[in-house]
This record gives sequence, structure tokens and C-alpha cells, in this order.
Amino acid sequence: MLPTIEWKGDSVVMIDQRKLPVSEVYVTCKTASEVAKAIKTMVIRGAPAIGVAAAMGIALGMRKSKATGTKQFATEFQKICDQMAATRPTAVNLFWAIDCMKKAFAAAAQSGASVDEIRQRLDEEALKIHDEDVASCRAMGAYGASLVPQTARILTHCNAGALATAGYGTALGVIRAAVEQGKTIAVLADETRPFLQGARLTAWELVKDGIDTTVITDNMTASMMQQGGLDLVVVGADRIAANGDVANKIGTYGVAVLAKEHGIPFYVAAPISTVDLNTPDGSHIPIEERSDREVTHVGSVRVTPEGARIRNPAFDVTPARFVTAIITERGIARPSYEASLAELCRTPPGRA
Ligand code: MRU
Repeated sequence: MLPTIEWKGDSVVMIDQRKLPVSEVYVTCKTASEVAKAIKTMVIRGAPAIGVAAAMGIALGMRKSKATGTKQFATEFQKICDQMAATRPTAVNLFWAIDCMKKAFAAAAQSGASVDEIRQRLDEEALKIHDEDVASCRAMGAYGASLVPQTARILTHCNAGALATAGYGTALGVIRAAVEQGKTIAVLADETRPFLQGARLTAWELVKDGIDTTVITDNMTASMMQQGGLDLVVVGADRIAANGDVANKIGTYGVAVLAKEHGIPFYVAAPISTVDLNTPDGSHIPIEERSDREVTHVGSVRVTPEGARIRNPAFDVTPARFVTAIITERGIARPSYEASLAELCRTPPGRA
């Protein structure tokens, strides 16, 4: 796989996800503001990936800071953190990553570190967030693959792949791990209107990996389930509330309800950084409303008449009762999620 995001000298470079699969081009960010803009405009997207991007953007901003004293350095740091936090509201990984950077800053400053030493610590923290994300995906993949039959037809929604993380993917990590174990896997990828993450990104990743992939439009899912032969659904998440309610790409809720009706297991794969124990249930999760243009146009072609009102909520909330299990890097949570998620959050990393 091509890297989703990486350092190139003093720049953060990302593959432009708006242009895939037609062109594989990169966006080079030389400032923290450019990284924030890349997150907001979906050059990079997916909950874990935008967390990693925010951390790298903060480290980049502080690399470029001309501040000589810690006070001015701290003021600039806070401003950049605020800028990153204002990019997208739903995925909690973004706020988790900013918080990790703030803790790293505070620890270094309290130990009397110089501006250069704090800068170094922020670089290290961003790299740690990046590398741990790939390791989490691998661990999630191993746990999740145990739920996949030897021969399986799997449906996924949106893109929870290498592009949505620092590499390997959450839901697609489960699929990749099952393939690596020698299982025979065929994937149904929902197109995922309006941004087409499924058709453009999931299909691109899976085809590159030589995994059997069929793209369907979102309104075909019910019929596919009714026809039979679908073994499970696996999706990612942007925020999981303490009670197990899951915010994910718009359309996920419908897929989950359909899966329950047809007796198909509905799995969510997400790192612990997606679990937000401070949010009691899904009704408290802020849902991003994106621009009308994503709905009114397909590419550059207008598909709705002028004058029609438009709604474009980017995410929905799937109530916990539709979720068969939540796969994390620390193990698999089953209902009741209040208890199982709290337990996994307490489990030290690598000790599941
Ligand atoms: O708007 P997006 O493309 O950032 O939404 C992404 C999703 O909803 C993904 O399913 C989710 O972030 C999980 S990614 C591992």
C-alpha cells in the first residue's frame, strides 16, 4: 500500500483521497494551517487518520515556530491545537490525538525542557501516535479474523482501510488478516454516497491487494441481504459512546438494522482511541453537517435542481442493540457494552 501520510523532510505529505481512484497524487503540507485545511477538505479522512494528521500537523507547526521562550512557544502551541480541533467534530480520535500532544507538551515543560527539547518531544509523540495506530490495526485484524468463517462474503460501508488509518485499516484490517490466514473472502463494498468512500477508496485498496471486490450502490444493500449468502458486516467507527452506540459514516445505521433483520452479524472494528467513555450515549455525539455541494453534484455535474433544500449529515448513530461485537486492539467487546468497553479501556495496551 502507498503510505496514507508521512514526513518528507520538514513537510507532511498525504495521498489526496479526493482524487482517488482516478489519480494517485500527493499533497505536501509545509505548515500546520495547511494540515488543518487538508483535514477539513478531506484530502485525508477517516477517524484514526485525521488523529494522526492532527498530531503531525501540530509537530510540524512547532518545528516551524520561531519562538525562543517557552511562554510564546506554549501560546503558539495552544493556537495550533485549537486550529486542529476546529477541523471536524465527530471523530473523537482527532481530540484524543490533540490531547496526547498536549500531555506530551505539559510533561516536557514541567520537567524544565527547553523549546528545542519540547519540539523534539512533540515530534516523538506524533511518530508514536502514527506507529501505534498501525500496530493497533494489526492487533484488531488478528482479533477480528477469528470471527470470520473460512469462506466468507463480507459487506463493508465507507472506507475503514489503510487510507483511513496510518496503515492496514480497522474494518479492512479484519478483512486483510482473514485473507492472510488463507481464508476465502469476497467483499461487497457499499458505494457510500455522497463522498463515495466505498466505491472510490475501499474498492481501490482491495483491488490493489487482489481481494475479490464487488461495488454496490447503497440502495442495493437490502436486496443483497435478502438474496442470502452474506456472512457478516464489518465497519469502522468515528466515535463509540460508553453504552456502545456507534457513530460512523451516514448509512451505517441502515446497514445495521438490515443486518439484524436478516440475522447477519454486524461487527464494528475500532481502536480504543475511538471509544469515548465521557459520552454516555449516541445522542451526545456531535454530527458533522457537510456542504450542500457534496449532495447537489456528482463530480462536477449538478444532479439536483436549484431551489431544492439539501441535507448532508456526514455520520449517523447506530444504537448498541444492533452491534453484535466491537473489535478493538485489546480484545473483543460484547454486550452489555457499558461493562465490556469500560473493562477494555482499563486493560493496559498489549495485555488483552
Ligand atoms: O467522513 P469520513 O470519510 O472521514 O468518514 C470516515 C468513516 O466514517 C469511517 O468509517 C470511520 O472513520 C472509521 S475509519 C477506520
